[in-house]
Amino acid sequence: MADKDLTIEEILARSRELDGQGEASAPAPAAEEAPAAEAAPAPASVDPSKMSVEDMLAAARASASGESDATAEQAEVPVESPAAADPSKMSVADMLAAARASATDDSGASADAPPAKAAASAAPAEKTESAAPAGPPDTASILAAARKGVQRGPQSVEEAVKTVEEEGGKPAAKAAVKVPPAPRKEDFLPPKPAPVAEVSSRRGFFASTLGVLFGAPLAVGFTSMAVTSLLWVLGLARFMFPNVLTEPPTKFKVGFPDTYGPGQVEAKYKAQFGVWVVRFEYEGEAQIFALKSVCTHLGCTPNWLEGEQKFKCPCHGSGFYKDGINFEGPAPRPLERYAIRLADDGQLEVDKSTKFNEELGQWADPNSFVSV
Ligand code: FES
Repeated sequence: MADKDLTIEEILARSRELDGQGEASAPAPAAEEAPAAEAAPAPASVDPSKMSVEDMLAAARASASGESDATAEQAEVPVESPAAADPSKMSVADMLAAARASATDDSGASADAPPAKAAASAAPAEKTESAAPAGPPDTASILAAARKGVQRGPQSVEEAVKTVEEEGGKPAAKAAVKVPPAPRKEDFLPPKPAPVAEVSSRRGFFASTLGVLFGAPLAVGFTSMAVTSLLWVLGLARFMFPNVLTEPPTKFKVGFPDTYGPGQVEAKYKAQFGVWVVRFEYEGEAQIFALKSVCTHLGCTPNWLEGEQKFKCPCHGSGFYKDGINFEGPAPRPLERYAIRLADDGQLEVDKSTKFNEELGQWADPNSFVSV
């Protein structure tokens, strides 16, 4: 029991001591044969867990050398015994022997090895297969399995499905495998260009916005300049033509003479022609004459006051009698007369192109009145 508690360093030191004693005490062949002859039967009949350190080392050396028949016979004992023993209770020597046996088996030398050595290599394999389900795998079984080239597991979904199918699995096993969906092709396509109508509407929106922001002032400026230029052109064209007065005709008819009563002042032509037609006596002669409705002071338009029987200027108060002679206010002279005559049709015709002034003695002119 004390030997099982030794560490590896202690085992090696003790092995070296034994090697030194063996070389000093006896010749090498004899020393090897003697222990071998003695050790061979002992381990075969003894429980490997109760082997001494010397026995285990001797068995290891015999397995490692593999050159003499005596060693091969010695190796059969420790190799067979671990195979029959519980792997969990194998000693260090057993495990080393099994490992060496596996190594020699893989290198090809095992084909020429003696039957004892082949049995030794077969022993760990059998031990591995039988010990694997019994408990946790030991180092020797793991190494042996690795060297035998144990198949690796499936590396992809396809391999897993194939393996399941080869092992007689149901097709449902393939469906049970959750495969993520493949990315869609549309997710990697470049964005489609916008429709032409949308682009045009967008451009129209930007154009209208820019037009509102920047176009309006420019439009107002150019419009103003165009209007100004047009006005200048029209003014120049107007300057090229003479002025034409659109005044009422200077000659107009005011009715028959018998329609006017004695002392009547007709004011209905004042607004349109600026004339009063009066039937009155001047210097003892009954006449019909036409008075100009313009004040001789500063040009205002007097009014006929029927109640007062006079012409009254509203500007400065000048007053004129019915025959047109001034009598009050600042007016310096009498009202003026227009020429009047009997037309071919017997009506009175007034001609505003000719005027007659009383202060100049022109009212005595027969063209300035019509006698009645
Ligand atoms: Fe008629 Fe002065 S304008 S009174």
